[in-house]
Amino acid sequence: MADLELKVTDIRDLTANIKMYELRAAKGGDLPAFDAGAHIDFKLPNGLIRSYSLANDPKERDRYVTAILRDAKGQGGSMWMHDNVKVGDVLVSSPPLQNFPLIEDAASTVLLAGGIGITPILAMGYRLKALGRKVHLHYCARSPEDTAFMDEVKRVFGSDVTFHHDGGDPSKGIKLAEVFKDYPAGTHLYVCGPGGLLNAVRQAVGHWPEGTVHFELFASAKTAEQVAAAAASQENFEFEVELARSGVTLTIPADRTILDVMIEEGFGVPYACEEGWCGACVIPMISGKADHRDEVLTDAEKAANTKIQVCISRAAVPGEKLVLDM
Ligand code: FES
Repeated sequence: MADLELKVTDIRDLTANIKMYELRAAKGGDLPAFDAGAHIDFKLPNGLIRSYSLANDPKERDRYVTAILRDAKGQGGSMWMHDNVKVGDVLVSSPPLQNFPLIEDAASTVLLAGGIGITPILAMGYRLKALGRKVHLHYCARSPEDTAFMDEVKRVFGSDVTFHHDGGDPSKGIKLAEVFKDYPAGTHLYVCGPGGLLNAVRQAVGHWPEGTVHFELFASAKTAEQVAAAAASQENFEFEVELARSGVTLTIPADRTILDVMIEEGFGVPYACEEGWCGACVIPMISGKADHRDEVLTDAEKAANTKIQVCISRAAVPGEKLVLDM
């Protein structure tokens, strides 16, 4: 689907460092429909591509709502949005994309949002409530003043929300081991937030059944030291990638990624982080064994070898050819 031209029709301060952006079709009319959990990739004039989740009710077709945390330590996308975008501006984005799909007929659903991670979770709340499903939200933030969409969350979830305000001290926040000790049969958990929270949740839900816990990362959960250690322990070698539907075989040199070579050869692949955590560059894989280096796929998905994040993952061993469904 072609890129969208979106007119900014409202900007509001939700907290001291989170702004809400309302976007409508620049030429009027309906926007492409989206499912809860979806995001759009803004193509910023400074060359950055940044993914932001849609927070509004998926049944609305006349607008998208997203919220952006000003991240002074990030790569500049959020600061550019905060500092430059005004009501009336027209931004270019991808159509809605989905890396965090919601299973709508689960027996019950638990949602966990950390800070700005509330954006896709709020859209999930709208959808599950509209379907009359059993749902409960745990929403973690520093304080009520730092809790984006507080009134809207209360309106959507009613009594099915617990706010956890830790005052900046995680030890005073949500007791993950207690909250996630039990998992009523058929319950699915969706988690969106910063890497530290996600890592802690991963430990707390290690006993939940495979496939019932779903994560969306807003940044790499790895520290700079972990990234450096992984790079030092990983050997890169040349390998081949066959694009089955195009009938093309590409050679990926040791110092380039699959994504680099595909773009150079004119194959359009969506991407954003280029570090293996945002999920944008996933491509279905037909055969071959990959060295999955990303933070997106689950262990089961990595073992299945039916998809690959082409910005970071490579062939598992020299001589291994990866055949992609593209
Ligand atoms: S571009 Fe983000 S995971 Fe590949």
